Amino acid sequence: MLLTDSTTIITRDNIQLLHIENAFAYAEISLFGGHILSFKPKHDYRERLWVSQHAFFDAKKPIRGGIPICWPWFGAHKSKTHLAAHGYVRTQTWQIISCEETGTGTTITLKPQTSTGDGFEGDAQLVLVVHVGQQLTIQLSTSNLGDTPLTYNCALHSYFAISDIKQCELLGLSKQYTDKTRGYKMLDTPQIYKFNEETDRVHQVQPKTLTIADGEVKTDILSSGHDSIVVWNPWQEKSINMGDMADDGYLTMLCVETAITQGQDVAPKTTHVLQQIIQ
Ligand code: BG6
Repeated sequence: MLLTDSTTIITRDNIQLLHIENAFAYAEISLFGGHILSFKPKHDYRERLWVSQHAFFDAKKPIRGGIPICWPWFGAHKSKTHLAAHGYVRTQTWQIISCEETGTGTTITLKPQTSTGDGFEGDAQLVLVVHVGQQLTIQLSTSNLGDTPLTYNCALHSYFAISDIKQCELLGLSKQYTDKTRGYKMLDTPQIYKFNEETDRVHQVQPKTLTIADGEVKTDILSSGHDSIVVWNPWQEKSINMGDMADDGYLTMLCVETAITQGQDVAPKTTHVLQQIIQ
């Protein structure tokens, strides 16, 4: 048996979920999508992640909320527009490679059924390593198994649980961003970064640490291996039009995504690691 004492497997609708509870935290990972759904450190028992109350668990459509893995492209495919947005691994069933207990928590390693697919030329192996401890550490490794360089984009598309989008502030971003809601215009990052409308922004070249300030409650997000931070909230009209979101679902979530949007090259026989740490 691959699992350790802190880890059990349960089924919800058509999906298998790993429940992890150790001395440090509680977490839940869906094998469909290699998709983390919950992280609650025991020092405050506060849920860090948001999952839509109308999320699909049919093992066909991506799950709305948690941490979807977008790979090997981000958003729409650049030439094959009929392909699914955000790549093909968030709708695959992933396999457990290992589960280990360490002095600081539980480490689960997963890989998708296949790392190859229509729309991606590379000969790659994708691996997800999740460490559930006082903090949640997520590492997405892309290894180039081939003899020629490959290029990929991706995101750890984290949905954070907040009490009220209209009260919360995102700290740590600066310079300019590309605004997808305004025809990809480049705009200055607001110095007080608050939310009052649909937000879909790509911020390139950003510091490692960002903070969501939800009143007095703070969530830190540490990123590495990325070239962009994507900030997304669909706001009311889009929430109403999405089949897997409550009409007012946008009020209690904010996506802060550790992303590669500009194409990351990976030389033959090397590995690139994208990491997000949630505190
Ligand atoms: C964000 C994109 O990362 O994901 C948005 O910037 C997109 O444009 C959002 O709408 C959600 O995507 P999806 O495919 O999960 O509905």
